[in-house]
Amino acid sequence: MTEPTRIPVTGENGYDVLVGRGLTGAIAEALGSGVRKVLIVHPPTLGARAESLRAALGDRFEVLLAEIPDGEAAKRVEVAAFCWQVLGQSDFTRSDAVIGFGGGSTTDLAGFVAATWLRGVKLVQVPTSVLGMVDAAVGGKTGINTAEGKNLVGSFYAPSAVIADFDHLETLPRNEILAGFAEVAKCGFIAAPEILDLIEADALRATDPTSEEFRRCVELAIAVKADVVSEDFTEAGRREILNYGHTLGHAIEHAERYQWRHGAAISIGMVFAAELARLVGRLDDAAVDRHREILGSLGLPLEYPAGRWATLLATMRRDKKARGSMLRFIVLDGIGKPTVLQGPEDQLLYAAYQEIAS
Ligand code: GLY
Repeated sequence: MTEPTRIPVTGENGYDVLVGRGLTGAIAEALGSGVRKVLIVHPPTLGARAESLRAALGDRFEVLLAEIPDGEAAKRVEVAAFCWQVLGQSDFTRSDAVIGFGGGSTTDLAGFVAATWLRGVKLVQVPTSVLGMVDAAVGGKTGINTAEGKNLVGSFYAPSAVIADFDHLETLPRNEILAGFAEVAKCGFIAAPEILDLIEADALRATDPTSEEFRRCVELAIAVKADVVSEDFTEAGRREILNYGHTLGHAIEHAERYQWRHGAAISIGMVFAAELARLVGRLDDAAVDRHREILGSLGLPLEYPAGRWATLLATMRRDKKARGSMLRFIVLDGIGKPTVLQGPEDQLLYAAYQEIAS
């Protein structure tokens, strides 16, 4: 076993993200000696793995499992209430802990439960998808959806550790890995061009969880996120750059009733943002082409139907990330140089959309 890589998130409530294989021991270490009871929150698809984790932790802790629905269906107040009930009936105290064991929806929900039970108990995030490892589980955003929209209820709540164990990726469908790589590529575009070089050199190797290149890409992406959230935990400023491709991407996810993978939607969103930057003279043709080549080499979509623009624009205006009445887009002044484009004219947005319309 190679040594895990330790990527620090600094700030008031700093913690490490550990990347490697065979990291079950690191979960026990992160829980620490003061914890007696642990609730592992997991989706049904990870039932057998959650049982193995329970067995591995069982000699040091009293471990309970809470099975929650797969995907977005986990992020409901009824599911949080179910977890609170398990914690309450099992007499969890403030010195006990929650483990989020699953993809982004699971770690969002588990984080919310940990943040709210007794006003906050220890949380260890164990993401089992690429998306979770490079984005959702890192940075302390936790939350649930309401009938009015996604992530409207939640908190910023730092975990004690994030354990990114590639052993969990072995059974992940290839499509999930590629969709997660949209977030990895995003980190390349906004801050870590080495990721883009690695994907361009060999997209198959870069996305093969057994390769050195994959590990390097994932570590670079985590380092970008760690750096940004260390500086701006509560998204008062720089953290907004992580929303590259997300303004249109979220509108596409909404239009597709959340049946699309997040990575597919933000892939189109990044090409749109690149076209927008080109139209305002910030990005050259070559950098825009690079977006299409890299995201295309990952098998991600680059276009969206022409007739959907009015709906997407209306959704973007409602999106919580559009502050006040002004739409805001993260665009690039060049690869690795993100900036904010505030309140672009509708005509400009429409022109950019024409470039990605199918
Ligand atoms: N997923 C973007 C963020 O954590 O800020």
